[in-house]
Amino acid sequence: MLLIKLGGSVISDKRRYRRFRREAVKRIARSLPKKELIIVHGGGSFGHILAKKYEIREGFEEWKSMGFSEIGRDMMELNLKILKILIEENIPAISIPPHAFHIMGEEPDFRIFEKALSMNFVPLTYGDIIFHTKMGIDICSGDYLMLHLARKFRPELTIFLTDVDGIYDRDPSRKGASLIPLLGRDFEPGISINVDDVTGGMRYKIEMMREIARYSRVYVLNGFHPERMEMVLKGEDVIGTVVV
Ligand code: IPE
Repeated sequence: MLLIKLGGSVISDKRRYRRFRREAVKRIARSLPKKELIIVHGGGSFGHILAKKYEIREGFEEWKSMGFSEIGRDMMELNLKILKILIEENIPAISIPPHAFHIMGEEPDFRIFEKALSMNFVPLTYGDIIFHTKMGIDICSGDYLMLHLARKFRPELTIFLTDVDGIYDRDPSRKGASLIPLLGRDFEPGISINVDDVTGGMRYKIEMMREIARYSRVYVLNGFHPERMEMVLKGEDVIGTVVV
């Protein structure tokens, strides 16, 4: 089985509110297998901009209600755009919104995923607004879902698609940054945390990836080059990062 995350920076222009990257998603969809697959997508500018503005991660207060609803709506719209593309490409995807099956602080219940997979459907889920046992509200990141899905379903292969070639030794936009082909356990990221990313930026993602690497082969690849993902699926060497 393949577990894949379409990062928010691939499917949207992170700087512009609700700017979708249709062509990029289409190209990825064409390269995906049509079964034995779970897809997770991030929020990008459909999620992070308002989540920051409404301080969703700081817990519930009355003034945040409309913001919480709006982010839920924006994420559903993004999800529907992706769902439509997957269906156009003949992938039998079923959308499973986290806010409707999970409460943060509890163990996620993946029975719907299990049932869908048993009939060769492709579960499609995403980073979302969510209720929280203690905080009232929170953001459930796609990376958190990736970890819990990997633990539950033990995919042989887990791929994170991002907008750069893999994981770098520092912020990839900085001069002299170099790609890390193999990210070992002793690696200490010198990567600065992206402050606009409400779910913790690169450091948190690397933590999740490392944890997933206990259950699965983990790759970080450039989503704008979906042919690399196809090569990994065939077992070939590619430009990217392998997390061990
Ligand atoms: C964030 O999900 C979801 C919201 C902000 C609602 P992720 O944290 O997985 O999104 P990306 O991939 O970093 O954009």
